[in-house]
Amino acid sequence: MAGRTAPPTAIESVLSETRLFRPPKAFASRARVPDLASYRKLYAASVRNPGAFWAKQAGALLWRGRWKKALTWDPPFAKWFVGGKLNASENCLDRHVATARRNKVAIRWEGEPGDQRNLTYEDLLRETCRFANVLRGLGVRAGDRVGIYLPMIPELPIAMLACARIGAVHSVVFGGFSAESLRDRMNDAQAKVLVTADGGWRRGKIVELKAAADAACAGATCVEKVLVVRRTGRDVPMTAGRDVAYEEAARGVPTRCEPEALDAEHPLYILYTSGTTGKPKGIVHTTAGYLLGATKTMEWVFDIRDEDVFWCTADIGWVTGHTYVVYGPLSVGATVVMYEGAPDAPEKDRFWDIVERHRVNIFYTAPTAIRTFVKWGKDYPARHDLSSLRLLGTVGEPINPEAWMWYHETIGGGRCPIVDTWWQTETGCILISPLPGATPTKPGSATLPLPGVVPEVVGDDGKPVPKGKGGRLVLRKPWPSMLRTIHGDPDRYVSQYWSSVPGSYFTGDGAHRDKDGYFWIMGRIDDVIKVAGHRLGTAEVESAIVSHPRVAESAVVARPDELTGSAIVAFVVLRGGGKGDNALEDEIKAHVARTIGPVARPAQVQFTELLPKTRSGKIMRRLLRDIASGAKQLGDMTTLEDVAVLERLRAEYGEE
Ligand code: WTA
Repeated sequence: MAGRTAPPTAIESVLSETRLFRPPKAFASRARVPDLASYRKLYAASVRNPGAFWAKQAGALLWRGRWKKALTWDPPFAKWFVGGKLNASENCLDRHVATARRNKVAIRWEGEPGDQRNLTYEDLLRETCRFANVLRGLGVRAGDRVGIYLPMIPELPIAMLACARIGAVHSVVFGGFSAESLRDRMNDAQAKVLVTADGGWRRGKIVELKAAADAACAGATCVEKVLVVRRTGRDVPMTAGRDVAYEEAARGVPTRCEPEALDAEHPLYILYTSGTTGKPKGIVHTTAGYLLGATKTMEWVFDIRDEDVFWCTADIGWVTGHTYVVYGPLSVGATVVMYEGAPDAPEKDRFWDIVERHRVNIFYTAPTAIRTFVKWGKDYPARHDLSSLRLLGTVGEPINPEAWMWYHETIGGGRCPIVDTWWQTETGCILISPLPGATPTKPGSATLPLPGVVPEVVGDDGKPVPKGKGGRLVLRKPWPSMLRTIHGDPDRYVSQYWSSVPGSYFTGDGAHRDKDGYFWIMGRIDDVIKVAGHRLGTAEVESAIVSHPRVAESAVVARPDELTGSAIVAFVVLRGGGKGDNALEDEIKAHVARTIGPVARPAQVQFTELLPKTRSGKIMRRLLRDIASGAKQLGDMTTLEDVAVLERLRAEYGEE
């Protein structure tokens, strides 16, 4: 954990984990990639001749028109399968409806209050077509952007697939984001239509999505129509001429809608994520490469079988939900479980109750959730029959070996392989992960790269570091599901990802490789913080804090946290100096939660008269991180302008 937030030069690997878990024989004997030699062969073929390799893999998709060239690489801009035509919703729906999967359940949905809906592939196709026709009726055409701000209800994947069907570009905004965050994203995407709901359920309370959507639209005049899906059934104010009740608009609308044959590089979606500046980046994914990555990783990493019930617990508002609740599993014709609410509603065994009742076979969640389950204790999973589980996965942040072992033993009964999957919003799908039938696992390591992925750990000079040494994690070669650009800002795409290590994609993560070539991801080394697996930029949080009328200046850093991985600590200088009290601290925390969303609420606000700066006026975050994480020794202070500031701050830190 010590290396997590350190600058690149100070990356040190602190883990020395020696346990090794081989794939269980029963699992390996049925797996697509049944041993390490097969993995190595596949990997070698993928790097020897990537064009030929991906050309072959592309057969996993349904094409409307044959592509001409697998990769067109004009660094750092990639195009995959140029000339090809396809439709993502046709790949996820029609191609299964044309087979015996027609009546297979695609989505087993459970609302937090306990209501349930099962949608077969045919049901999902009909609902998607109906939704697509409604969008068309509102004037949405191929290339238009549609915002989606919905709870975890079936209409969320339906709306996404409906957009994909007509070539509209969806931009899903997590329901936990504030009106302001929604407004900024709608404006950046220039969304024409926003799809929202009358609310959603979370811990027995209604999440007021429509009110937030209204507030957002007041400042996002690009939004011409707001489509409101019924979920809670409560009346919500409707703005005449703008708001449309989905159920009314859908009445009598045909349940057939021809999928548009779109270019392989047609944008499928924009998903906003935090970066190193205050402005979130609109990550652009396109159709063929993204879908291929999602599809192949379902086979390689999850070894998905037709009879499996697959449950990824991520909210669709994040990339994990896009790829592993919607596009990946539906593309391969799987049955997915989708759950609306909180893991402790009504009790702390809700997830295990769902696993038991739906006979879940593959379960994919985040380390922060696992650590919470550890804290809640073994009694909750013990109440349920978890014997249906055959494979477990984690994503979103480094998993500590203790949590890994607990997951393995308490949830997996010692029999399920664990896939610790490393990837990012930008990468579109999993890039580094064990293959469950092939790769021996070590608790805490994401192990080896998937076919076609060429990661390396490099030093500040961009040169590979020796095994065992920490450095920056970069990717040397383009891959099909990579982001294509940042929406509306190709220069930022180049500077953000391709400039710090010329010729390579810089992930923002620190990592090291052990003697077996296994990757150990140590976490972000840029100004991005992962709180409970959610990605936040320190600059975003700082700008929210300084928008409080009493705040003059602020610096936000991460400190390690047992439950959430990292927690946000905000150092705050008040206008006119002076110290704030507890009430002001609470007010600032609430202000951030209101401005960005509850996920960004700082764990701690520390008032200070001054922030430690260099002579040229740069805030020395490294020293603040040292203070926030309670380091005994502070790092190099030679460039610090006023050492006394720091000494005072350190003495005061954590005092009430
Ligand atoms: C972190 C989530 C360690 C990492 C899919 C990355 C991980 C960031 C892992 C991307 C893992 C994700 N082990 N760290 N298995 N998976 N991360 O965009 O810091 O929300 O850069 O995508 O999560 O976060 P994002």
